[in-house]
Amino acid sequence: LRILSVASECYPLVKTGGLADVVGALPGALAPLGCEVKVLLPGYPVVMDRVARLTMAAYFPDLFGGSGRVLSGRLDEGTDVLVLDAPHLYERPGGIYNGPDGRDWPDNALRFAALSAVAAAIGRRGIAGWVPDIVHAHDWQAGLVPVYLADGEGPRPKTVFTIHNIAFQGLIDGMDYWKLGLPWHHYHVDGLEFYGDASALKGGIVYSDWITTVSPTYARELRTPGFGGGLDGVLNQRAGRLSGILNGVDTGEWNPETDSSIAAPFSAADVSGKAASKRAVQGAFGLSADPDRMLLSVISRLTEQKGLDLVIAEAGRILQRGGQLAVLGSGDPALELAFAALKRQAPDRVGVSIGYDEPLSHLLQAGADAILVPSRFEPCGLTQLYALRYGTIPIVARTGGLADTVIDANDAALKARTGTGFQFAPVTAEALGFALERAFDLYEDRAAWAKLRQRAMRHPVGWETSAKQYVALYKSLLQA
Ligand code: ADP
Ligand code: GLC
Repeated sequence: LRILSVASECYPLVKTGGLADVVGALPGALAPLGCEVKVLLPGYPVVMDRVARLTMAAYFPDLFGGSGRVLSGRLDEGTDVLVLDAPHLYERPGGIYNGPDGRDWPDNALRFAALSAVAAAIGRRGIAGWVPDIVHAHDWQAGLVPVYLADGEGPRPKTVFTIHNIAFQGLIDGMDYWKLGLPWHHYHVDGLEFYGDASALKGGIVYSDWITTVSPTYARELRTPGFGGGLDGVLNQRAGRLSGILNGVDTGEWNPETDSSIAAPFSAADVSGKAASKRAVQGAFGLSADPDRMLLSVISRLTEQKGLDLVIAEAGRILQRGGQLAVLGSGDPALELAFAALKRQAPDRVGVSIGYDEPLSHLLQAGADAILVPSRFEPCGLTQLYALRYGTIPIVARTGGLADTVIDANDAALKARTGTGFQFAPVTAEALGFALERAFDLYEDRAAWAKLRQRAMRHPVGWETSAKQYVALYKSLLQA
């Protein structure tokens, strides 16, 4: 089975969030099941720096105002990649979606339309003799892939479109639709048109052979006005071709027995090494070195989605119950300031690291006792999965993939020995506060907490089950 995976991020080359982790891990999870995956991604400077040894495999003379070439090869990590080198679109300073001033690049729709058009061309004609059976497009940046494949002659691959986050739609003003080089018949309410714009995300939803999202609960939530971002109607129309497949984690990359970013190895069989990482985190975040205080963590983009204003609101309770808080994240300046202010109030109990730091995120997962994920919506969420594996108890909002991956340790669950963390709903400070009280109460009973941690660490978070579901989906599309 040959799969062309198309995305704007792929770990370890380029990452701003969980999308990169998933796109980076899936090829390795699918390989043992007989899939040959190639990942097509844009040649941003950070990517070009890492792929010097790739060879040119295709040339596109006219790609929205410049030429592009596709480089092909294998990363040291084993992933087969196709890199779209188009300097007029990707060779820029700043982030991959925004300039140094933090604002989105004005031509983002075209930058990723180019990626999608190239994916469609490879889908039809193949590249260096390799023709995919399936094109698997991720998020709005690849949403136009099935649209570019819709017209044209000859056989085409089947398409799967995965929604990782519906909050980003990739809109282009209707007046600029012509720039996409697509026929006008797609600019229609039953096609790409979305309130006067063209929506790449809607393109993926309407034109793909199958739509997935990254958890079963989010697949249901998406079909409601509160979560559908205006596309719930379209998603309901396509409900028979929409399913949720839970993300897994790369258990090689995230393994407390071998992780070189943590202070000492540990495992479910022997968690004693976790204490060394807790000490290291307390040192790194300027907290008092106190093994007995519950250390709560946050590892997150600081955005509205993630609900971290609730943590600010409940910080008093964390301090009053004797806890410590270590925050690693960046984003919304108001939240960054609010966490910094908290740090000033209680410097030995609150630690804040503003920025993006992959090794520190591993250390924090290893050293914390619990992680807070109070998201307003969460398609899947990966940090709670890493936390489970590192024996760090997730305290999560009951939404999306958080609801599907954490088993609430209520009294009934504790009696049945099934809880792995704490859930709360609705997503309010009050409900978070109640979950915090339950967590602190259980933490005081060290034997009960140790059992909870054991169950968390043994909870399966790998890709095995979900990879099989993707393969079954690919096969069913090819048979249809
Ligand atoms: P999302 O994709 O919505 O941001 P996920 O939980 O799916 O949420 O994935 C977030 C990923 O980004 C995880 O791998 C997490 O460890 C990582 N991450 C988030 N913020 C930071 C940060 N400040 N430093 C390092 N890693 C981070
Ligand atoms: C998105 C979602 C997150 C999910 C990730 C990977 O960024 O916000 O919930 O885990 O994609 O699928």
